[in-house]
Amino acid sequence: MEVVVAPAPELARLAADAVGRLLTERPDAVLGLATGSSPLAVYDELARRHAEHGLSFARAQAFLLDEYVGLPADHPQRYRHVIDAELVSRVDLPPDAVHGPDGLAEDLPAACAAYEAAIADAGGVDLQLLGIGTDGHVAFNEPGSSLGSRTRIKTLTRRTREDNARFFDGDADAVPTHCLTQGLATIMAARHLVLLAQGEGKAEAVQQLVEGPVSALWPATVLQLHPHVSVLVDEAAASRL
Ligand code: GLP
Repeated sequence: MEVVVAPAPELARLAADAVGRLLTERPDAVLGLATGSSPLAVYDELARRHAEHGLSFARAQAFLLDEYVGLPADHPQRYRHVIDAELVSRVDLPPDAVHGPDGLAEDLPAACAAYEAAIADAGGVDLQLLGIGTDGHVAFNEPGSSLGSRTRIKTLTRRTREDNARFFDGDADAVPTHCLTQGLATIMAARHLVLLAQGEGKAEAVQQLVEGPVSALWPATVLQLHPHVSVLVDEAAASRL
């Protein structure tokens, strides 16, 4: 595990460098995209490089980490819409090459199995961007998640719903109670993991991620077992290391 402590703009550049290198070597790469605030500056940087330097996503594919269950198709906080606004609409990544778990499927377990199959059919994820929750969740694998888990339905904790209330007019009760999320084993199958965290609120989770014992109580700790992980954190998020 490589840990880089740097100011936030530098972290965004480093993550964008990794994506840019991959797309230069393999224009048809498979990207794993994360929502949440942590990767936003990376998407800004990728959009800038697309506009100014012609970085192309035209042959790439992308898979989202997770999706809320039950948000109406036109809800702006559906992660599929969020990623369209944050990245897809700003680069030349074809919208139909972007995939997410179907949180409106009638048969949710079947949708989860189909999602795993789609990732496998694409040849697996080359580079997965990740954030981390204050409780150490990655994607929506909340504390207690099996380290061997695959894409499935999960219940969101009250803490995560409160953390994400800022995207729902501050109302934690408006945040869905359930989600579909790639499992920890799904995420671990990606070839390069790039995790970003900023701010004091992430310091305990980052400490556990880097220094804690591998435990389902802090799901991100499973990343210690991955052969190629880049942890990109600012001073505040690194303050407990
Ligand atoms: C959300 C997302 C995660 C994200 C995490 C941190 O619940 N499902 O993928 O990494 O919370 O979010 P943020 O980056 O906004 O702090």
